[in-house]
Amino acid sequence: MLYLIGIGLGNELDITLRGLEAVKKCNFIYLESYTSKINARKPEFEKLYGREIILADRNMVENKASEIIKRAKVKDVAFLVIGDALSATTHISLLMQAKEESVETEVIHNASILNAVSDTGLSLYKFGKTVSIPFQNNDIETPYVLLKENLSINAHTLFLLDLIPMEDVFMTVNEAIEYLLRTETKKKLNLFSKSTMVVACCGFGSEDSVIKYGKAAEIASEEFTKFPQCLIVPSKLHFMEEDYLKIISKD
Ligand SMILES: C[S@@+](CC[C@H](N)C(=O)[O-])C[C@H]1O[C@@H](n2cnc3c(N)ncnc32)[C@H](O)[C@@H]1O
Repeated sequence: MLYLIGIGLGNELDITLRGLEAVKKCNFIYLESYTSKINARKPEFEKLYGREIILADRNMVENKASEIIKRAKVKDVAFLVIGDALSATTHISLLMQAKEESVETEVIHNASILNAVSDTGLSLYKFGKTVSIPFQNNDIETPYVLLKENLSINAHTLFLLDLIPMEDVFMTVNEAIEYLLRTETKKKLNLFSKSTMVVACCGFGSEDSVIKYGKAAEIASEEFTKFPQCLIVPSKLHFMEEDYLKIISKD
């Protein structure tokens, strides 16, 4: 049996009761640790689960998934994903492999950055396509083009920012703003400027998460030390959305 379990955004305690119950009966527990970061380390998980966990990097999941599947054929295996099991990071290929090999599967969901952005007061119904900004972005225009697409239908844009969690390397909202300003200078479509209002979202799901709403230039001049981070470029705001953003940005 293969369990794909979302463990939430905050720390080891964010797993659901159903997720915890499943983990406790598993013989092998893999923690996918290359697409996001949570405020807990291996020992904290192991203490809660009463089991050893195996940190799974991209290579292990994408190239050696057969080891996970092989084990799931004869034993109970948990594959833990930070945030939600299938949101913003797809592990569908793992599920597909399992199904192809007739391994039973169960998905146990949890909160994701895709719904935690509702902490900002922005309506989830009004978000357009989610956009990722990679580290190597000098010649990349897709995030800017997607911003244009979203703005054209009056939709907010959530930018997910690249990261290498195992090396504690995270793209910052400042770098994301820099990317958008640089691409604006190249493409000149009048989508983004130093006075565009943006929302910095840092370390959502933890007690000391940070939300800051302001002009791109102001946000870019601040230092945010909570990770991971994402950036929202809102479209036209409903007055309730704007009022709420102003209130929480004063904290
Ligand atoms: C590839 S997504 C992984 C999504 C995860 N599976 C989930 O459901 O939340 C990782 C990116 O989402 C954003 N992100 C994830 N967790 C976050 C958090 N707690 N606070 C702010 N941004 C976060 C960051 O931009 C990060 O680089």
